[in-house]
Amino acid sequence: MLQITDLTKKYKDLTAVDRISFQVNQGEIFGFLGPNGAGKTTTINCICGLLKPDSGTITLDDQDMIGGGNRVRQMLGVVPQEVALYEEFNAIENLQFWGGLYGLKGAAIKSRIQKLLDLTGLADRAKEAVKNYSGGMKRRLNMAAGMIHEPRLLLLDEPTVGIDPQARHQMLDTIRQIAAQGTTILYTTHYMDEAEQLCSRLAIIDHGRILALGTQQEIQQIVGENRLMKITGTFDKSRAESLPDKMKNLVLLSIQENEVLYSLPMKETTGTFLEMLIKSGFEIDNLSIREPSLDSVFIKLTGRELRD
Ligand SMILES: Nc1ncnc2c1ncn2[C@@H]1O[C@H](COP(=O)(O)OP(=O)(O)OP(=O)(O)O)[C@@H](O)[C@H]1O
Ligand SMILES: [Mg+2]
Repeated sequence: MLQITDLTKKYKDLTAVDRISFQVNQGEIFGFLGPNGAGKTTTINCICGLLKPDSGTITLDDQDMIGGGNRVRQMLGVVPQEVALYEEFNAIENLQFWGGLYGLKGAAIKSRIQKLLDLTGLADRAKEAVKNYSGGMKRRLNMAAGMIHEPRLLLLDEPTVGIDPQARHQMLDTIRQIAAQGTTILYTTHYMDEAEQLCSRLAIIDHGRILALGTQQEIQQIVGENRLMKITGTFDKSRAESLPDKMKNLVLLSIQENEVLYSLPMKETTGTFLEMLIKSGFEIDNLSIREPSLDSVFIKLTGRELRD
């Protein structure tokens, strides 16, 4: 339903979004995964019309979104990264305000608000001023506000940042419910595990570029059945480089002053690998082993961890 083609957005000399293309299909939760500064919010702001792209096209159900009409925008809901609520008002008043902007009134807005309060688990506290809410409650109300007008496509910009694990768990459940009720979701996050839990298809973005795109299974194939072994410590560089000659299927991915990254098939034993490191004179401060996951895909693609 949402098609983005060759989208580019620059801030002066910085290309924040660099010729990205992807498609979000009707009814899916599409993950948009990347570290700080990757270009996620910039992309969302281009989709919802807050920013004008430098080039590229964005269509929703084949209708142009850039410079496009409010009619198309009615189909779209945005939940911004920063919570946008009136602290002095209660939940109902906040939702009435947002509903009013979309021209909702009377019985229609009343029943819509009740539905959203139930969905987000805020019904009990609906008459309390937002300033008394926990971070998680504010985030849930923020989400309700973004979908007051029953958009068909919901853009969520890192909705779980800064909330505790339990609130996060609730939030993910609510998002699943929203999707199950037929809303298509573009889900932005820098948490690999959230993308793994929620998303059928996803794109990994870094420095404004899409590095990988597809179903989780497809993306997983980038690392295949390989573990990533990261060693920090003191070692001889040329010996570290020649290690793959000594162990079949061991691949050197990146090497720095005090850190080296290898990939090793699941079938090879860690013990043999460790023995070899010690024989080659490695003084190991830390060894981390990453099982195949989206996390290890990111490390393989960029040589660094997602949460740098
Ligand atoms: N208004 C702006 N003016 C100049 N540069 C900007 C502006 N907004 C964002 N940037 C830069 O563009 C790049 C992409 O930023 P963006 O906010 O889209 O990233 P993000 O993926 O949403 O990151 P985060 O996870 O921190 O929210 C960054 O390098 C950022 O510093
Ligand atoms: Mg952002």
